[in-house]
Amino acid sequence: MVWHDVAPAEDFEPDVPKVIEVGEERIAVYHLDDGFYAISDICTHQYAILSDGFCEHGKVECPLHQACFDIRTGRALDEPAEIALATYPTRIEGGVVQVSLG
Ligand code: FES
Repeated sequence: MVWHDVAPAEDFEPDVPKVIEVGEERIAVYHLDDGFYAISDICTHQYAILSDGFCEHGKVECPLHQACFDIRTGRALDEPAEIALATYPTRIEGGVVQVSLG
Protein backbone atom coordinates (compact mmCIF):
# COMPACT_ATOMS: atom_id res chain seq x y z
CA MET A 1 0.00 0.00 0.00
CA VAL A 2 1.45 3.37 -1.00
CA TRP A 3 0.87 6.26 1.40
CA HIS A 4 0.82 9.93 0.38
CA ASP A 5 1.53 12.81 2.74
CA VAL A 6 -1.35 15.26 3.16
CA ALA A 7 -0.27 17.67 5.92
CA PRO A 8 0.90 17.68 9.53
CA ALA A 9 -1.96 16.64 11.80
CA GLU A 10 -1.57 19.82 13.84
CA ASP A 11 -2.29 21.94 10.74
CA PHE A 12 -5.84 20.61 10.37
CA GLU A 13 -8.79 22.63 11.61
CA PRO A 14 -12.11 20.94 12.37
CA ASP A 15 -14.36 20.68 9.31
CA VAL A 16 -11.80 22.33 7.02
CA PRO A 17 -10.48 19.82 4.50
CA LYS A 18 -7.05 19.62 3.02
CA VAL A 19 -6.94 18.48 -0.59
CA ILE A 20 -4.28 16.55 -2.44
CA GLU A 21 -4.15 15.30 -5.99
CA VAL A 22 -2.72 11.88 -6.69
CA GLY A 23 -2.64 11.08 -10.38
CA GLU A 24 -6.18 11.72 -11.63
CA GLU A 25 -7.67 11.57 -8.15
CA ARG A 26 -8.53 14.63 -6.11
CA ILE A 27 -8.90 13.68 -2.44
CA ALA A 28 -10.20 15.76 0.47
CA VAL A 29 -9.10 14.87 4.00
CA TYR A 30 -11.18 16.03 6.95
CA HIS A 31 -10.42 16.09 10.65
CA LEU A 32 -13.60 15.04 12.43
CA ASP A 33 -14.19 14.42 16.13
CA ASP A 34 -13.05 10.82 15.93
CA GLY A 35 -10.25 10.95 13.41
CA PHE A 36 -9.16 11.75 9.89
CA TYR A 37 -11.28 10.76 6.91
CA ALA A 38 -10.52 10.90 3.22
CA ILE A 39 -13.08 11.04 0.44
CA SER A 40 -13.12 11.81 -3.25
CA ASP A 41 -13.41 15.57 -3.65
CA ILE A 42 -15.59 15.34 -6.78
CA CYS A 43 -19.35 15.03 -6.48
CA THR A 44 -20.85 11.86 -7.91
CA HIS A 45 -23.85 13.70 -9.37
CA GLN A 46 -22.14 16.14 -11.72
CA TYR A 47 -18.78 17.84 -11.68
CA ALA A 48 -18.41 19.92 -8.54
CA ILE A 49 -15.63 20.27 -6.01
CA LEU A 50 -16.97 19.23 -2.64
CA SER A 51 -14.27 20.92 -0.59
CA ASP A 52 -15.76 24.21 -1.86
CA GLY A 53 -18.98 23.24 -0.10
CA PHE A 54 -20.14 23.61 3.46
CA CYS A 55 -19.01 21.03 6.00
CA GLU A 56 -20.61 20.41 9.39
CA HIS A 57 -21.36 17.48 11.72
CA GLY A 58 -19.49 14.96 9.59
CA LYS A 59 -21.26 15.90 6.37
CA VAL A 60 -20.24 17.91 3.35
CA GLU A 61 -22.71 19.69 1.10
CA CYS A 62 -22.12 19.92 -2.62
CA PRO A 63 -21.90 23.58 -3.64
CA LEU A 64 -23.72 22.97 -6.93
CA HIS A 65 -27.01 21.21 -6.05
CA GLN A 66 -26.66 20.86 -2.28
CA ALA A 67 -26.62 17.08 -1.98
CA CYS A 68 -24.96 16.03 1.28
CA PHE A 69 -22.47 13.23 1.76
CA ASP A 70 -21.36 11.42 4.90
CA ILE A 71 -17.63 12.09 5.20
CA ARG A 72 -17.00 8.91 7.22
CA THR A 73 -18.67 6.52 4.79
CA GLY A 74 -18.94 8.49 1.53
CA ARG A 75 -22.67 7.71 1.44
CA ALA A 76 -24.92 10.08 -0.51
CA LEU A 77 -27.47 11.28 2.03
CA ASP A 78 -29.95 13.01 -0.22
CA GLU A 79 -30.93 13.89 -3.78
CA PRO A 80 -29.86 14.57 -6.38
CA ALA A 81 -26.74 12.54 -5.61
CA GLU A 82 -27.31 8.78 -5.41
CA ILE A 83 -23.84 7.29 -5.73
CA ALA A 84 -21.45 7.12 -2.79
CA LEU A 85 -18.10 8.85 -2.87
CA ALA A 86 -14.93 6.80 -2.86
CA THR A 87 -13.33 6.67 0.59
CA TYR A 88 -9.67 6.13 1.36
CA PRO A 89 -7.76 4.91 4.42
CA THR A 90 -5.79 7.42 6.45
CA ARG A 91 -3.08 7.16 9.07
CA ILE A 92 -0.72 9.40 10.99
CA GLU A 93 2.96 8.74 10.50
CA GLY A 94 5.50 10.91 12.27
CA GLY A 95 2.82 13.49 12.96
CA VAL A 96 1.83 13.70 9.29
CA VAL A 97 -1.57 12.65 8.03
CA GLN A 98 -1.28 10.27 5.12
CA VAL A 99 -3.79 8.80 2.71
CA SER A 100 -3.63 5.71 0.54
CA LEU A 101 -5.49 4.95 -2.65
CA GLY A 102 -5.31 1.28 -1.71
S1 FES B 1 -23.10 18.29 -8.69
FE1 FES B 1 -23.18 17.76 -6.60
S2 FES B 1 -25.30 17.50 -6.20
FE2 FES B 1 -25.22 18.03 -8.28
